Amino acid sequence: MRKPIVVGNWKLNGSSAANEPLVLGVLDGMRELAGIDVGVCPPLVYLSQVAKLVEATDLGLGAQNCAEHDSGAFTGEVAAAMLHDVGARYVIVGHSERRALFGETDAVVSTKVGAALGAGLTPILCVGETLDEREAGETEAVVRRQLAAVIAGNGIEAFEQLVIAYEPVWAIGTGRTATPEQAQAVHAFIRGQLADHDTAVAQSVRIQYGGSMKPDNAAELLAQPDIDGGLIGGASLKAEDFLGICRAAAQTVG
Ligand code: 13P
Repeated sequence: MRKPIVVGNWKLNGSSAANEPLVLGVLDGMRELAGIDVGVCPPLVYLSQVAKLVEATDLGLGAQNCAEHDSGAFTGEVAAAMLHDVGARYVIVGHSERRALFGETDAVVSTKVGAALGAGLTPILCVGETLDEREAGETEAVVRRQLAAVIAGNGIEAFEQLVIAYEPVWAIGTGRTATPEQAQAVHAFIRGQLADHDTAVAQSVRIQYGGSMKPDNAAELLAQPDIDGGLIGGASLKAEDFLGICRAAAQTVG
């Protein structure tokens, strides 16, 4: 049985005034939840603020990106070890926005996974196809290529220590969620690809769905056999919406 994991990706949102009520609201609602992992990924400058708020709680802290490098002359970058140092447990790697807008290649993403693991963080490795790729029938080929780079760079054992997020790009921030059947098909495909390398790893790795997941569609997505949680953008910015998704995930184990 894989423990569901729901993580909020705040993206470029938040402020020192807004973060506190949001985090306290999530912590308050979490007292009634059991059996799932929950995390939030604020912008980098707020990690320390949120780290204090979640200290000694079950709410995990994550970052949205990390450097490929450990240290050195890389102006503006933040190393995985620094994220760990200020209290992060997770780091999102290879989000489609970073791939598309900031030029992150499969090779860069693979290196970042290695950097995160080396620093003791749990990478949340994002994969997913664009609308053009889906319509061209390339969904499986794209996801296969994205995963293959990480397997080649870090070994299949790396998947014992990371979380995968399948995020179809066309469903992110669009309100157009993948149907439970569409999402399940890709999640099963991902597990199948990993099983070609190691069946135990394939069975144990947690695969989140991300892309317009909301309280009202979470339950049917999370009911799918290979969907083990969610990576939540817009709905993670309101405590009640985020908690609605967390409750749906908790119900799958209750
Ligand atoms: P939305 O939930 O806003 O569609 O974003 C999903 C996402 O990109 C999470 O990483």
